[in-house]
Amino acid sequence: MLETIETLQDTALAELAAASDAGALEQWRIAYLGSKGKLKDAMAALKDVPKADKPAYGQRVNAAKQALEAAFEARKGALAGGGGGKASGPRIDVTEPGIALPMGKRHIITRVREEICEVFSRMGFDVADGPEVEDDEHNFIKLNIPPDHPAREPIDNFYVEEPDGARADQGGRPRMLRSQTSTVQIRVLDDAIKRGWGPPLKIVAPGRVYRPDTVDATHSFMFHQIEGLYVDRRVTMVDLRTTLLQFAHLYFGADAEVRLRPSYFPFTEPSAELDMKIALKQGEEPKWIELGGCGLVDPKVFEAVGLDPEQWTGFAFGFGIERIAMGRYGIPDIRLLYGGDVRFLGRV
Ligand code: DAH
Repeated sequence: MLETIETLQDTALAELAAASDAGALEQWRIAYLGSKGKLKDAMAALKDVPKADKPAYGQRVNAAKQALEAAFEARKGALAGGGGGKASGPRIDVTEPGIALPMGKRHIITRVREEICEVFSRMGFDVADGPEVEDDEHNFIKLNIPPDHPAREPIDNFYVEEPDGARADQGGRPRMLRSQTSTVQIRVLDDAIKRGWGPPLKIVAPGRVYRPDTVDATHSFMFHQIEGLYVDRRVTMVDLRTTLLQFAHLYFGADAEVRLRPSYFPFTEPSAELDMKIALKQGEEPKWIELGGCGLVDPKVFEAVGLDPEQWTGFAFGFGIERIAMGRYGIPDIRLLYGGDVRFLGRV
């Protein structure tokens, strides 16, 4: 009995040594180690072995199994190595320190956007978004910006050149790269009403906006805004002011100085601009820098989405994320944010 196992093991090892590619190796594995293989048969034969010989037989089969498994792994490794186990090429000092790979990180604008959303979500705002290619209904009409308003001039906007007929598919509305994230106010209100999840609602919507501005230290043809919208009953300027002050303190620190300046936007009444005292260059006197606009939602906007302005009130705001990033991290020139210079990106 024991000799049979001995022979089995010898034959198996000889065949394994002859297996010269992955296919042959796998065939060998199935024949000997597989669930219907020869070792299994040998195990099964244990029941026919006389009682006194059972322990010795069992041990021998197990030893054969271990030997064949180890030999299989070794053969597999040698075949995979290609060199048949023989080292070639230069000697490598494995004790030498490795080459450190530089660690990348997320872009400063991405991080600031997430930080701002995080602060607002702590104040109960959900995060929403909308498309960058918009129509003039969302970018202008429903925001109470009438057809003859100068903000709609082609020279101040990126309108999409539509192929013939495309505009008709779209109900005749011109399309454009959105010039402001205020578009998301309309999208969110329409959606909330259609699906019945609001108002009341409280959202912020960060995203890219596009304007044909000449690039300089503070302007770019593409930048980011964060829009805010809160709609509920009896929302007042005090709610707006408190929210913005709280944001400034949470994000910039307890000594952040902000002020609201009266202003005008077609979709808010009253309207204001939020300024913050910021030193963009180290050691420089802080200056009042405009972060963006805000105000109480104009009744015309509520009417445009079919809400009763006698019942609903709200505030809205839209700030430049670049301005906030530049203020928070002392970045003197907006072009640094898009230049892709790793010396700058690695520092901020
Ligand atoms: N959309 C305005 C802009 O891009 C900024 C703005 C002003 C947004 C007032 C608002 C707001 O939500 O209430 O200049």
